Amino acid sequence: MKKIAVLTRDCGGVNAAIRAVVRTAVAKGLEVEGAVRGYEGLIRGDFVPLDRRSVSNIIGLGGTILKTARAEAFMAEEGQRAALANIRARAIDGLVVIGGNGSLAGARVLAERHGLPVVGVPATIDNDVPGVESAIGADTAINVALDAVDKIRDTATSLERIFVVEVMGRKCGWIAMQVALAGGCEEVLLPEKDVPLDALCAEIKAGSARGKASWIIVVAEGRSTASAVAAAVTAGTGLETRIAVLGHIQRGGRPTAFDRILAARLGHAAVEALAAGRTGGLVHLNRGRVEFLPFGAAGEAKETDIESDYHLLKVLS
Ligand code: F6P
Repeated sequence: MKKIAVLTRDCGGVNAAIRAVVRTAVAKGLEVEGAVRGYEGLIRGDFVPLDRRSVSNIIGLGGTILKTARAEAFMAEEGQRAALANIRARAIDGLVVIGGNGSLAGARVLAERHGLPVVGVPATIDNDVPGVESAIGADTAINVALDAVDKIRDTATSLERIFVVEVMGRKCGWIAMQVALAGGCEEVLLPEKDVPLDALCAEIKAGSARGKASWIIVVAEGRSTASAVAAAVTAGTGLETRIAVLGHIQRGGRPTAFDRILAARLGHAAVEALAAGRTGGLVHLNRGRVEFLPFGAAGEAKETDIESDYHLLKVLS
């Protein structure tokens, strides 16, 4: 193996992972190229050379220095063939893919259907990669969202109001649940669990009768919108509500120490795995140790224990 390439999605810690990939590869005498805009860069043949200096001072930067895009063309066989032709033309021997389930599915296709040596590095704010306890970027995202929720609590308490805060998570409520637990929120609405809004309204009315004045309800975007929930709560209780939609601020910002260290470990391990010929899977941390997990080995959906976290939230709120 003489040359590898790296492509990424964006979230906190991805730049720290690129740095780890590049510096580990250089230390092993490998050349590295970055695919610009993820799979789109592979398809278009858009690559940049990466050396030790090119990744200086990026460890604390959010986003991805390589830029990223949703490359629909890569879903089709034609797009995959174009990508492979560019990889071969540039004499790239292996690929590191840093991203969430979509990016890792692409990595699996390149490995299994086209025989390319590929190692994945899980990085997604949703933290929903099967078999992976912590994806890069998830810790940063919940800390960004928690900072917002703490600020909202200041005004919710002062004004004695009900707030509905919408967080990201189209398919999974991981961010919502973590933020609700860490923020001491009263309710969380998740794609995985049906909490009827009339029951929520009845709970708020009962709380209000006891003198409880402020509430923070966290809703994952995959369950509903903050405005729909707030309207339902106002209609069902007669109480005023306010909303906050956190959106993409959750994917940006200065990565936490946890995400930077995870990125260093996994970026390094990905290159070690490629160089050792252990490919067709991803690297992740299991009880503090780096492990290699073949693509698909942990099934299609991540196992979670929503019910016990939900129970905890309700007991403590
Ligand atoms: O998968 C990560 C994620 O941030 C989700 O939480 C969110 O629903 C989605 O991506 C947003 O995607 P986009 O940036 O393409 O709108």
